[in-house]
Amino acid sequence: MDLWFQGDFRQALTPPVPKIDEVLNVNKLAAKAASALCTLGLSVALATSVYAAVDHDAIIERIQPHGNVCLEGDDTCGTGAPAAAPATASASARSGEEIYNRFCAACHTAGILDSPLFGSGQMTERADEKGLDGILATSISGIGAMPPRGTCNDCSDEELEATIQFMIDAE
Ligand code: HEC
Repeated sequence: MDLWFQGDFRQALTPPVPKIDEVLNVNKLAAKAASALCTLGLSVALATSVYAAVDHDAIIERIQPHGNVCLEGDDTCGTGAPAAAPATASASARSGEEIYNRFCAACHTAGILDSPLFGSGQMTERADEKGLDGILATSISGIGAMPPRGTCNDCSDEELEATIQFMIDAE
């Protein structure tokens, strides 16, 4: 039967006889290695979790630019979705004609309560008399039987002016 030796032949010939302090040293080394590995493992774990957190944030960041979907009144989107379109925003989009039809026509189309009759030239007369600024001012404050802002409480001054201009242009 053949005997085969695998490994370092010289070592096999002079097998080290471990002395007690060598054994202790080796054990110490092993302990050091183990603790080093532990530290390494721990830091790897930490690094992994940090990486995971970063990765998670990165994903959130990546999907952010597409925007949030929030229900009306829901404030999970940060600033809070407006419960209703703010008066100023919707107001700036309204034309004089729109406002006239919605708020002013009730009286002015038929000249109710002796209001300047729409399309009759009476509004132009008043504008000539008091100036556009003058009739704008009385529209804002209210005049005679006409309530302040002609009942359009969320109308800006600019919108009222545009509405009066619309009424004058129609004459
Ligand atoms: C409730 C009825 C009523 C509504 C609604 C109303 N008005 Fe009038 N408006 C009047 C009456 C009445 C007068 C005349 C008041 C007077 O001279 O004593 C008048 C006068 C005016 C005048 C002339 C003011 C002046 O100094 O002579 C303007 C401008 C005017 N209205 C604009 C508007 C506009 C713009 C709206 C809509 C945003 C509006 N009104 C809505 C009744 C109304």
